[in-house]
Amino acid sequence: MNTKHDRKPGGKRGWATQWTRAGLIALGAAVLSSCGQGQFIFLGDQAASYNREIWNLSLWAIGLSIIIFVGVSGMLFYTVQKFREDRNTAAPQQFHGNNKLEAWLIGIPIILVLGLSVLSVRSLARLNPVSQETLGIEALGAQFWWNFSYPASTVQGGSVVTNGNEMVMPAGQKVAITTTSRDVIHGFWAPNLGGQRASIPTVKKVWELDTQRPGVYQGNCSQLCGASHANMRFKVIALPPERFAAYNEAARAYVAPTPAPGSAEERGYNLFMQGKADTGAVACASCHRVQGTPAGGVSGPDLSFFGTRRTLGAGMWEAMTPRHWEETEVAQSAKTEKQYSPAQALHEWIKNSPRVKPGSIMPSYDGSTYFVDGKPIKGGVLTDDEIDDVAAYLRSLRLPEEADYWRGIPVHGTNTTAGGSQ
Ligand code: CUA
Repeated sequence: MNTKHDRKPGGKRGWATQWTRAGLIALGAAVLSSCGQGQFIFLGDQAASYNREIWNLSLWAIGLSIIIFVGVSGMLFYTVQKFREDRNTAAPQQFHGNNKLEAWLIGIPIILVLGLSVLSVRSLARLNPVSQETLGIEALGAQFWWNFSYPASTVQGGSVVTNGNEMVMPAGQKVAITTTSRDVIHGFWAPNLGGQRASIPTVKKVWELDTQRPGVYQGNCSQLCGASHANMRFKVIALPPERFAAYNEAARAYVAPTPAPGSAEERGYNLFMQGKADTGAVACASCHRVQGTPAGGVSGPDLSFFGTRRTLGAGMWEAMTPRHWEETEVAQSAKTEKQYSPAQALHEWIKNSPRVKPGSIMPSYDGSTYFVDGKPIKGGVLTDDEIDDVAAYLRSLRLPEEADYWRGIPVHGTNTTAGGSQ
């Protein structure tokens, strides 16, 4: 709302404008199911052609409903008023059946339902086709995270560009999302882009989405899928086309940096790749992929660009930026009982992920028992210093500056950008 137009000095607003504005704000508040830091959910976002189509369809349904409501209640009031009983009224005329009236009462609803059906089918016919040239993004849902991969963006070694829990797409052009699931039924839903699709194991569903407005948008799993269903979020970062192209190119060419000898990152790298056999600590690499390294695990989210990402634990924590690294209050969006700074959150996450995220099947690294498919497994042990070494390595996994997709991209509804550069 803070456009220049609204702030024009000396402009007197009429009461109608003010009421319209108040109404819009109230409506906005009603549809904002969550508006924490960096979260903006708006079903009626007209920047997406999917939402525009649904909006136009809804106008017909809403308009007809209003006409029917006014018509029926008008006739009801008229009848009650006109045929009100009083002491002198004789018994009303008795009759049975009025074929003409009944024909109208059946005919009008049939016409209305048929009309709405035709409009709905027309909208489906516009929304469902997927063109071949569209940029394809595969969204894989799993308990309780997302992987977004780009089949056309091949990298050396035969795999493709993949990012965990943050979906980068170009603004101003359609992208074809293919959604599926690793385990149970999830739901891919980024309301500002429109629609939602069930992510079903063994089934691939494709549909096209777009947004005209670059920005950061909230995505959620929309299908109850287990203990951390509410912690299965993702971000959509829509970039101007030239920035997306830069991102895509850098992501394809990306090779994870080699840590300097003797650095914390190098110690972290070794733990990440090999674990620690004498304490039973499992190697991170067995479940996570890091592009350009031997780590090729696929049962956990891709960590290639972990240091560029601003979210942790599939959106449980946000603002994981260097600028905020030690601040406590910025990591509160997940509404967990404990408030962590991003640095603490990452530490706790590595140490015992199932404790901070119910249902997580990531191994614990503090020796406590964790569960996979209901089976208890004794976790290995890393010391706090070793955990911080792993964290240091993870944070070093960064795309080059020009491909940092968070840089300067507005988070809509919060009047902020996604924070400074890395
Ligand atoms: Cu996945 Cu709810």
